[in-house]
Amino acid sequence: MASLTVRKLDEDLKASLRLRAARAGRSVEDEVRMILREATEGPSAAPASPARSVPQPHRSRTSAATTLPRVTLIIGGGIAAYKALDLIRRLKDRGIHVRCVMTRAAQQFVTPLTASALADERCYTDLFDAQSEFDAGHIRLARDTDLIVVAPATADLMAKMAQGHADDLATAILLATNRPVLIAPAMNPLMWANAATKRNVAQLARDGIAFIGPNSGEMAEANEAGVGRMSEPLEIAAAAEAILRPRATGPLAGKTILITAGPTHEPIDPVRYIANRSSGKQGFAIAASAAEAGADVTLVSGPVDLDDPAGVRVIRVESARDMLAQVETLLPVDIAIFAAAVADWRVANAGDQKIKKTSSGMPPLELVENPDILATVSKLKQNRPPLVIGFAAETQNLIENATSKLKRKGCDWIVANDVSPASGVMGGDRNTVHVLTLDKSNVAIDSWPVMTKEEVADALVAKIAATIA
Ligand code: C5P
Repeated sequence: MASLTVRKLDEDLKASLRLRAARAGRSVEDEVRMILREATEGPSAAPASPARSVPQPHRSRTSAATTLPRVTLIIGGGIAAYKALDLIRRLKDRGIHVRCVMTRAAQQFVTPLTASALADERCYTDLFDAQSEFDAGHIRLARDTDLIVVAPATADLMAKMAQGHADDLATAILLATNRPVLIAPAMNPLMWANAATKRNVAQLARDGIAFIGPNSGEMAEANEAGVGRMSEPLEIAAAAEAILRPRATGPLAGKTILITAGPTHEPIDPVRYIANRSSGKQGFAIAASAAEAGADVTLVSGPVDLDDPAGVRVIRVESARDMLAQVETLLPVDIAIFAAAVADWRVANAGDQKIKKTSSGMPPLELVENPDILATVSKLKQNRPPLVIGFAAETQNLIENATSKLKRKGCDWIVANDVSPASGVMGGDRNTVHVLTLDKSNVAIDSWPVMTKEEVADALVAKIAATIA
């Protein structure tokens, strides 16, 4: 098999390869492998995009963020290095991509092979590694990450960081980075208490380095105890996550919100279904707006052609019964908003096989009523969300029908909108709504002017925030 030397490619090609690799969060060699694999096997050979269910750090309202946060884990040379291997798993459990770097001393305790296997990516060890340095590897490793974690951070490594040394890959990365750095010191209690270490700790803190630990406890050395034990992997992973995914702020911070959106598809047979014209845009806009307001949002959506809103956990379902089943597993929540246009009926005798055309006429379709998700949740004795909001899409007698729906279904608010064909609401980008709120037996009506669906979402979220404040 022929070998390919990337170093011999022309500069423009190398530059575009580097860019592609950085965007995909891969090394240049892995990117080249990916391109070759795609060229021979087709684009499906590329690995699937990261798990959808992982909540993403908030970016923009329109872009569905798809990249996992990335940590470069620098493993220093101490007995606690074995715990860094567990840390790799703990970070990955939290949906964080991990790339490992080991100092020479660390390799006396654990092997790069183990770290590579756990991280699913090559572990980097050498500053002058021909394979990675052709593309300025230490600079890429320093920047192509969201956070650098040093665990264990030995007294020696901390001293080098405080002084700005760059005589190996780990220290070169730490000097070249413009990303946040979190260190987990681990050393003998006397080394931690030493005046030189204290000076270095103070310097590093001034330089903006974040610390986790050290903890107090028994040392690896027999009969020694004190402050110097590296924090546990779970603690370090939590500290890393707190930096990567800062706690939400905003008027709905700390609130859990469940939203349904889109139509449902009710099967007639494996290839046909009953559906409606709902686009899901209003429900998705509410989810995006609630996430921007700091809420922890889960969106249960029927089949729609929309990207996941940033920072929202999206669960996609097909039928009304699937939607109800998901909703029930997500309770309790603080607020439930049922914006889905759930099909009222489903086919009782849906075929397991495609129904064939026969000469004996058309097959009868018997319809049965679907569960009413809004009414079911509104009338729960246990786990009823404190605020339940329904939607009423009407083509005539809007307020009258919405008022009776509010009372009949047992929810707290109804967002009523006119979906007659002339309104252009179904599938369109604008909406005119009236928010009906029930206080004891009095119905108050808040009528809003015509707005975009995003503006309606923002106004609804603001009204919710004002109500629960
Ligand atoms: O009765 P109607 O379909 O007009 O009610 C609309 C409201 O009820 C919406 O909030 C919708 O999401 C909800 N609904 C539901 N389950 C159904 C039917 C409607 O949750 N089966």
